[in-house]
Amino acid sequence: MTRIIRTYPDSVLRKKSRPIKDINGEIIKLAEDMAETMYLSNGVGLAAPQVGELCCLIIADTGDGLIELFNPEIIGSEGSETLKEGCLSVPEIMLEIERAERIGVKGLNRDGKEVIIEAKGLLARVFQHEIDHLNGTLIIDRISRLHRQLIAGKLKKLQREYKKDLSIPSG
Ligand code: CO
Repeated sequence: MTRIIRTYPDSVLRKKSRPIKDINGEIIKLAEDMAETMYLSNGVGLAAPQVGELCCLIIADTGDGLIELFNPEIIGSEGSETLKEGCLSVPEIMLEIERAERIGVKGLNRDGKEVIIEAKGLLARVFQHEIDHLNGTLIIDRISRLHRQLIAGKLKKLQREYKKDLSIPSG
C-alpha cells in the first residue's frame, strides 16, 4: 500500500525519530509500504518520517536493489563532495549540498541482524540524506543563509500549497 508523502512545512518532518526496539510485522509492513511509495515517486531513498512515522527506518535503491536499514547510524566518513540534491518532501527544489564522499553505515536488516555497509557516491549521499530525515533535518537546513534567501519564494509557495492541501479532504 502506498502512503502519502509528507511535504515541507509538515511538522512531522522536523521531529526526531525513535529507535526501533522490535522489528515486528507492523514495521516490516511499513518498510514495504515505503518501498512501494518510493518506487512510485521515482525516488532513490525514503525515510519513515516522510510517510508520517517517527521511527528509525530508511530505505534506498540507487539501482543495485532495495536496501532496508533499521536504526541506521553513520560510523565513519571520508572526503567531501558537493552535488545537486532533491527531496520528495521538498518538491521542485534542487540544492547543491555538501556531503561526505564515502561513509560507513551500521544498522539492522529486517531479520534483526547487524549489517555494515560501506557506501560511496550516490548511495553514500542517499544514506546521509535519509539519516538526516531521522533527525528532523532537511536539505534546506544544509545550505547557507544567503542561498536560503534566494529560494525563499519557492519555500513560501510550498507553504501556501501545504495549507491548500490541508483544506481539501483527500480520498
Ligand atoms: Co528527503
